[in-house]
Amino acid sequence: MLRQEVSLDGKDVPYLYGVDVTEELVGALADLAATADLVLLVTDREVAVHAEPVARGLAEAVRVALFTVDAAEQRKTLSLVEDIVEFAVGQGASRSTVVVAMGGGMVGNVAGLAAGLLFRGVRLVHLPTTPIAAFDSVLSVKQAVNLSGGKNLCGTYHVPSLIACDLRWLTSVPRGLMLTGLAEMAKNVLAVVPDRRPALERALGRLADEPAAALLELLAIGCDAKAPYLRTDPRERREALVFEYGHTMGHALEFVSQGGIGHGEAIAWGMLVAAEVSHGLGHLGHDDLALHRQVVGRLRLPPAAAGPGGLDRERIRAVLARDNKRGYLPCAPDEVPMVLLESAGRVVTGDRGLPLVPVPVDLAMSALEAVVGAAPGATLVEAGPARERLGAV
Ligand SMILES: NC(=O)c1ccc[n+]([C@@H]2O[C@H](COP(=O)([O-])OP(=O)(O)OC[C@H]3O[C@@H](n4cnc5c(N)ncnc54)[C@H](O)[C@@H]3O)[C@@H](O)[C@H]2O)c1
Repeated sequence: MLRQEVSLDGKDVPYLYGVDVTEELVGALADLAATADLVLLVTDREVAVHAEPVARGLAEAVRVALFTVDAAEQRKTLSLVEDIVEFAVGQGASRSTVVVAMGGGMVGNVAGLAAGLLFRGVRLVHLPTTPIAAFDSVLSVKQAVNLSGGKNLCGTYHVPSLIACDLRWLTSVPRGLMLTGLAEMAKNVLAVVPDRRPALERALGRLADEPAAALLELLAIGCDAKAPYLRTDPRERREALVFEYGHTMGHALEFVSQGGIGHGEAIAWGMLVAAEVSHGLGHLGHDDLALHRQVVGRLRLPPAAAGPGGLDRERIRAVLARDNKRGYLPCAPDEVPMVLLESAGRVVTGDRGLPLVPVPVDLAMSALEAVVGAAPGATLVEAGPARERLGAV
């Protein structure tokens, strides 16, 4: 079993991981829960086969109550969080209770928010079972759920006490979801650590035949990209906003599709849109635009027509208007804050020194059409007026 300390909101949080290490992880979890009256294991129905040995092992040391959720994006709501905390109290939870979130990013977010709210905060452990969760969402203290108006609009910050992952759990993730789930790693490579592109390529190449080695490599990319930012900007409100790359249009697509487009796939489309916007504004050159298509192309997304192409454009506009990065910097009602790149690994710095730029919604929508229109090589080139408006950026 390997161990890495991750700095989260000023605390060094152990991240224990390896392949076929469930027994050792359960031992570490039992040690942490030695002072707990109850472990509330919140898990995803799809990972029952992985959760069963965890629950059984833990039950030898501490009382365990199981709460199973259907991990659908539409269920990532306050009402599910309420169900979880009501269940916990019904089971006799106290301030010593440990909430264990075992599943993908959806379970991590609802259980993470429940842990942050129960008795104003009880201990939280993440046991991630998807690539997005293991390589990205657990490396964050943001815990949020969706409201009817948009994604991740309501939440808090809550630091886990432990993160533990048997990478074997990830091998049951369907291949399509696995590849698009790697979009967050593609994002890290494009936006933060372009020098890790060979490692990403290597990992993608090894995924089918040597999944364990590939997953260890991907975990390293996730940690290396995020660690320096989490130390200086743990709540992701300044320089770490770079990890929102691709998330403005991505969140809108994910939300409007009601989960039909998964988070990873949505972020992949969102990065292509951001690249088109940045190219149209004169920031991102042809080579980097081509690099986006190449890196995202490796994720083998479903055809655009089957994804973003079929979504209601007015709904997308409405969700963009409520993007959760609004308020970080002045933005007119017809603009939306986006992270843009001037080249791989270099963000466009906007107002207040933030890696955010107010982009006209019309321009973002045109970029979406350019991506969906999907003539290979099609790029968005006009947008002169918008460029002028961004002259100060
Ligand atoms: N900072 C953050 O908090 C942060 C960062 C990134 C993403 N997120 C959130 O994470 C969510 C996306 O994460 P996700 O892709 O893990 O989604 P998810 O949790 O919805 O899981 C995706 C699908 O995989 C299934 N699944 C999970 N583990 C499995 C396994 N081991 N084997 C087979 N199937 C499995 C689930 O049942 C679900 O159908 C979004 O809600 C996103 O907003 C949060």
